[in-house]
Amino acid sequence: MPTIYLNGQYLPRESATLSIDDRGFIFGDGVYEVTRVVNGVLFESSRHLARLGRGLADMRLHPEESLADIEAISNRLVQENGLQQGEAIVYLQITRGAAPRTHHFPPAGTRCTVFLSAKAITPPHAERAVGVKVVTYPDIRWSRCDIKTVNLIPAVLAKQHAMDHGVFESIFVRESAITEGSHTNCFGVIDGELRTYPASNLILGGVTRDVTIEVAHELGIPFSDRPFHIQDLPRLQEFFLTGTTTDVMPVVEIDGKAVGNGRPGTVTQALYDGVARRLYAATPAVR
Ligand code: PDD
Repeated sequence: MPTIYLNGQYLPRESATLSIDDRGFIFGDGVYEVTRVVNGVLFESSRHLARLGRGLADMRLHPEESLADIEAISNRLVQENGLQQGEAIVYLQITRGAAPRTHHFPPAGTRCTVFLSAKAITPPHAERAVGVKVVTYPDIRWSRCDIKTVNLIPAVLAKQHAMDHGVFESIFVRESAITEGSHTNCFGVIDGELRTYPASNLILGGVTRDVTIEVAHELGIPFSDRPFHIQDLPRLQEFFLTGTTTDVMPVVEIDGKAVGNGRPGTVTQALYDGVARRLYAATPAVR
């Protein structure tokens, strides 16, 4: 039975319960994080915590737990759930707590709900070997996509659209620009240059995106954070997705049309290898 953390207590997952008045349930009034764990070590923990801190501040959420507490709880859950070996994730969610329904904030003193869990995952290495297909989907989201809010309805609809079409992911299109995927960031190679939508309020600044850009700089790959557009898709030499549970994932088909030569590209592979070197730095055996 997995152990989870809820509001100061470590509990068996099955005995954890939430109020039906929780504002996460009623309004989607909360933020979340998903952090990769490799052989018991949180990957890029400080970047996840920094993003969480920005989200909490922008949403005016004030949990009792500090960011340092969150990291300590994450590490304890990894240990208590026997995840010292292999691949795992820690999921975290913080909501504005339980209170009678009002659109404005609940009374002062209402405790934020803080929930963390940890579980083993299998990274999609098999899909990576051959590449995946994606479809486009209108970016119907709000204008603060940089906050990792649990209000994920557009992402849910977009990902289901991908499932309905038998493909891996949907990529959002806003005024002809490719912004990002439903739960991934997007990169393309055009005229030998690596491009991705600029960090802004219109995408989530992915931790894997940042690591990928750092690796591109290390490898001397020309990079520009300029968006690319629907009309650029036929010129794409390569295209790939990045994310905590996706790593660097080559895309070989968009809306039924082949990307480049229809096979995972060499820039994508080099970037995956660079990201994997960091992921598995201390522990190459896990791959
Ligand atoms: N999603 N863009 C969106 C909209 C996301 O939801 C995510 C992550 C990313 C990639 O960010 P990162 O590299 O920090 O994981 C980009 C998580 C994994 C999820 O919803 O499960």
